[in-house]
Amino acid sequence: MANDLLDTFFDTGSADVIEEWCVPLPSAIFLSIMGLPQDDLPEFHAFVRAQLRPDRSLPRDVILEQMSAAADRLYAYFDKIYLDRTSQYSLGEDLIGWILASGDNGRITREEFLDVMYLLMMAGLDTVTASLGCILSYLARNPEHRRQLIEDPSLWPAAVEELMRFETPVQYAQRKADVDLPLPSGETIPADTLMYVSWSAANLDPDAFADPLEVNLTSVPIPTYRTRAAGIGA
Ligand code: HEM
Repeated sequence: MANDLLDTFFDTGSADVIEEWCVPLPSAIFLSIMGLPQDDLPEFHAFVRAQLRPDRSLPRDVILEQMSAAADRLYAYFDKIYLDRTSQYSLGEDLIGWILASGDNGRITREEFLDVMYLLMMAGLDTVTASLGCILSYLARNPEHRRQLIEDPSLWPAAVEELMRFETPVQYAQRKADVDLPLPSGETIPADTLMYVSWSAANLDPDAFADPLEVNLTSVPIPTYRTRAAGIGA
């Protein structure tokens, strides 16, 4: 799929890689593993745009209205699939079929199905687009690393890990302290505190990585400690 998409602009010699490769590729893969028709790609793009990349120049209530309308359309889309699949003899031999069959008694509820599909769409499309964009942008700005990968493609697995660390396409997430959390600094985060946790800061932490501001494509970076402290709930 990645190669097929490259072929669409290969002869032109240049492309807007975000629009022409990084955006369509994850959605096309998603549709393929879900067993959904590739013709539905524009609908998926419209959803991702409205939900995650709204036009910030619009008034806030208009943005919220568009996000909500996009979510309603997506729920309606997957609701139709739920009804189609569950009315047939077999749930299907693709990821949607497996998800439908994954609940208690071999079936999940309609509501669970819709929420799982919404979560996967939110989690699995724009993250990959952003990661591809960050990595390609890094390689465009750092020709010596690009050359290193072209000369030795066996470096790719380590390079993906290292560039995901260095670029951190998802910057932060929310957490709530379930219990009092003592920090290495000696301070304590009291139980029930809502926090923003910065993945990007963790990925550049000199206590975890020997040389955090250096990009090294030849070895998989392994933090010297794991930061997941007991007592941190989602
Ligand atoms: C390179 C691409 C990706 C990045 C950078 C990424 C990043 C993340 C991060 C940072 C979280 C943790 C969020 C939190 O704890 O608050 C997360 C969770 C999650 N991601 Fe991804 N993700 C990627 C691809 C995907 C894909 C392709 C899927 C599925 C199609 C996916 C499904 C999920 C799900 C379901 C969760 C929630 C897990 C849980 O809470 O138990 N992600 N992702």
